[in-house]
Amino acid sequence: MGVSSPPRIAILASGRGSNFEAIARAVGNRTLQAEIALVGSDRADALVLDKAKALGIPTLVEKDQAKLKSVLMDLNIQYLVLAGYMRILKEDFLQGFADTRGFHRIVNIHPSLLPDFPGLDSYRQAYEAKVPQTGVTVHFVDGGVDTGPICAQKSFSIADCQSLDEVERRGLAIEHQLYPETLNWILSEKFEILNHKGKLHVQPR
Ligand code: GRF
Repeated sequence: MGVSSPPRIAILASGRGSNFEAIARAVGNRTLQAEIALVGSDRADALVLDKAKALGIPTLVEKDQAKLKSVLMDLNIQYLVLAGYMRILKEDFLQGFADTRGFHRIVNIHPSLLPDFPGLDSYRQAYEAKVPQTGVTVHFVDGGVDTGPICAQKSFSIADCQSLDEVERRGLAIEHQLYPETLNWILSEKFEILNHKGKLHVQPR
């Protein structure tokens, strides 16, 4: 690799892969400096795999976290990007991405304003709770479910949404913009980590 090689990332996804597509598009039009070394999935039938293959990106189907970790370690990637990956990563796996600054070099996108509505079906949770607004969070991954240090959040109003579909449509449009944009400063290491009473805060600079 030459000195000017873009940061290598791998993407893990379990389904449709619209966030993968948004990231690949940003890489393609050079608004995101990165090389997607691999798209991995726990599901052989995940649509994301077809989308990656169509772009000539190597793919892998692997459920076993120890095996997956070993492949990723060999690829020497800088950050692991989760995009609709439906599995909880175990401590052993996370350790492979431990950064000396106290977080894991694993990024996730979650469809709510965390810490509100963690877990599954978060647009639905927000819609059914009738909150006036919800949003999208990009965060580093820790051992909990959607609990790691928050990198970026963007909210949007759902007070006037007529259906859950509409909430999801608005949310996804924001995801597709926020994820590549946030990855841009994460991958270029243009951020600081502040430790406030044991809680890490990520601040772009
Ligand atoms: C997105 O809503 C993402 O925030 C969540 O899972 C969904 C994945 O969608 N983690 P896609 O596979 O990227 O289209």
